[in-house]
Amino acid sequence: MEAVHQSPHVLIFPFPAQGHVNSMLKLAELLALASLRVTFLNSEYNHESLVRRTDILSRFAQYPGFKFETIPDGLSQDHPRVGAAMRDMFGSLELITKPIFKQMLFEINPPPDCIIGDGILGLTIDVANELGIPIIPFRTTSAGCIWVFSSIFDMIQAGELPIKGNQDMDCLITSVAGMETFLRFRDLPSFCKVSDVKDPLLQLMARETSKNFKANGLILNTFEELEGATLSQMRTKCPKIYTIGPLHEHLKARLADTNQTMSDRSSNSFREDDRSCISWLDKQPKGSVVYVSFGSIAVLPREKLMEFWFGLVHSGKRFLWVLRPENVPRNDGECDVVPTELVEGTKERGYIVDWAPQEDVLAHGAIGGFLTHSGWNSTLESVTAGVPMICWPCFADQQLNSRFVEEVWKLGLDMKDVCDRRVMEQMVNDLMVAKREEILKSATEFAKLAKGSVNAGGSSNCNFDCLIEDIRMMIKNC
Ligand code: UDX
Repeated sequence: MEAVHQSPHVLIFPFPAQGHVNSMLKLAELLALASLRVTFLNSEYNHESLVRRTDILSRFAQYPGFKFETIPDGLSQDHPRVGAAMRDMFGSLELITKPIFKQMLFEINPPPDCIIGDGILGLTIDVANELGIPIIPFRTTSAGCIWVFSSIFDMIQAGELPIKGNQDMDCLITSVAGMETFLRFRDLPSFCKVSDVKDPLLQLMARETSKNFKANGLILNTFEELEGATLSQMRTKCPKIYTIGPLHEHLKARLADTNQTMSDRSSNSFREDDRSCISWLDKQPKGSVVYVSFGSIAVLPREKLMEFWFGLVHSGKRFLWVLRPENVPRNDGECDVVPTELVEGTKERGYIVDWAPQEDVLAHGAIGGFLTHSGWNSTLESVTAGVPMICWPCFADQQLNSRFVEEVWKLGLDMKDVCDRRVMEQMVNDLMVAKREEILKSATEFAKLAKGSVNAGGSSNCNFDCLIEDIRMMIKNC
């Protein structure tokens, strides 16, 4: 067996946000299990939250050659780091973090043989190229989403962007190869819906994505059986794509090979998991509960939350709702008081927590559906657990994910652009009763394929072995 000090050293640098850190920590552990040396570079702010609320230090201490390093994200300590304010991060990382990262690469000992940088963080690609270090970007979103991001210049050239004021949003887009039969203007990422194609965020997303295609490969948290058609399109521009997801299931499978389980470990959350919801779920009938969560970044206005809440209570179904503190209606003004009808309805059939152990929740037998914001991690976790979804996408890739869920994979219902208590009530009833059988059939099939892909001989399992092999070859060729 290869001694740890001879194995390749990989530096992993995620974009400093929950969904990104969560999946990249799983990738880091997979690499450590494959006996690679790993340095995980966290923002100081996030590292402090993780150390305070999780067991990451003791968990990773079992891997010789694994190290955490930290770097400033360039924002002040009291910056909210949620909602639209997350955009500030792009500027601060480029301006403040990038030069520190470059300096760090000169000093880090041993120097990394390869960098796996978050593909949305183009600075990792720029710095790696400048210093001659091999770089493989990792994107935390779906292949479908990356393909659309990479087609932004085609959409501009075809005159489909910017979207015209009188555009019928249900019209199909013609300039994204392979998606001509289902992709509507409505389904484009929120940053594409701007009136000026020089919009900085639109340009940034298009530019960073095109950089991903020019690196030494691209790692995706998806699996061939789910996104094969899109991946074939992508491989015409970027032949070396390693699909190794669903990462949470992949890690579970590889830990099982070493007789370890996930059950005795904390999640990778910046917030405290409220496990009381699992005891509440234990008391609910099989398949009866709708799990509700809008991810880690989205901040919803009170009026919208109230529409969801009324819809859920009026549906008569049981629900478990993650209501993060920044979203909780306050009781300090008359209009903020929660109507008694909702309080009573929630007492009878609902349970609310700040933050849930989501993977365990979705795997719980009492869960029958997921009202989700369609973040990619949440979508994949739901696909793997075989849980049908109602999608209410908020921003970025989420509008695309929800279209795939309803139209391509038939795994749920897409409620995008509508926020109305009657529609909510109807959708919950469709998901849990009227359309259940049909959706559950696809959900069960895809869950089987997801699990199969990460087991020995499965597509993601084999692709991960190829990734390790290719990283080893990189240092032999240096
Ligand atoms: C956003 C994007 O939409 C996503 O596609 C991108 O890859 C990252 O940024 P976010 O709002 O964080 O993501 O959603 P999502 O990707 O779904 O990630 C949220 C993660 O937090 C999931 O892994 C989920 O399991 C976890 N979570 C969420 C919890 O553990 N508990 C909760 O209560 C809520």
